[in-house]
Amino acid sequence: MIIAVDGPAASGKGTIARALAAHYGLPHLDTGLLYRAVGVSVARAGGNPDDPDDALAACDFPDELLADPELRSEEAGPLASRASRHPGVRAALLERQRAFAAQPGGAVLDGRDIGTVIAPDADAKLFVTASVAVRARRRHAELAAESLESVAAEIAARDKRDMERADAPLKQAEDADLLDTSDLSIGAAVQRAIALVEARLQDRA
Ligand code: CDP
Repeated sequence: MIIAVDGPAASGKGTIARALAAHYGLPHLDTGLLYRAVGVSVARAGGNPDDPDDALAACDFPDELLADPELRSEEAGPLASRASRHPGVRAALLERQRAFAAQPGGAVLDGRDIGTVIAPDADAKLFVTASVAVRARRRHAELAAESLESVAAEIAARDKRDMERADAPLKQAEDADLLDTSDLSIGAAVQRAIALVEARLQDRA
């Protein structure tokens, strides 16, 4: 069984994807980490993530980089978003994600284009979202350093860049279920996600 979980920054998609993976005993891939690795590699090499050649050169990063805590920093999100606009970068990371999805027994993947591009035939697709205000409050609680206003502005700018890019933009797949977590606790959001996946599995049976 393949479960695709997409959505914008701080929507809860990562937490929901991890919980679904644990619930169904499936391996999980946070595909955002791959793009974060590219963004951080470009920056460390002194390159520019807006430059397609610099970004492409950073795609053969070593696997150990995926465990580097710097990838989870707030600076890495916009770097990833800028590097991920280039079709060459998306193509370079495609096979790795498809292979993960195709492993025997299935997998849970979360990102921006899992239901639309990476695994269009997924058994269940969730599009997890929440209002910008709620997402900014969540991110702000994780990072004491920045003001709530600047976190909200960064989230809005990243949403816009991710939704407006030409290649694999952030959008809800036609056959994805929408899960708005604005007014849900983590536990309630996870319960709802499991219920939506179960309904899709019933439909397929
Ligand atoms: O955790 P958060 O939602 O803030 O970010 P992330 O999922 O780690 O993704 C970081 C950036 O990588 C996003 O803003 C996207 O630009 C890009 N990304 C993408 O283009 N496609 C994916 N499947 C996953 C991430």
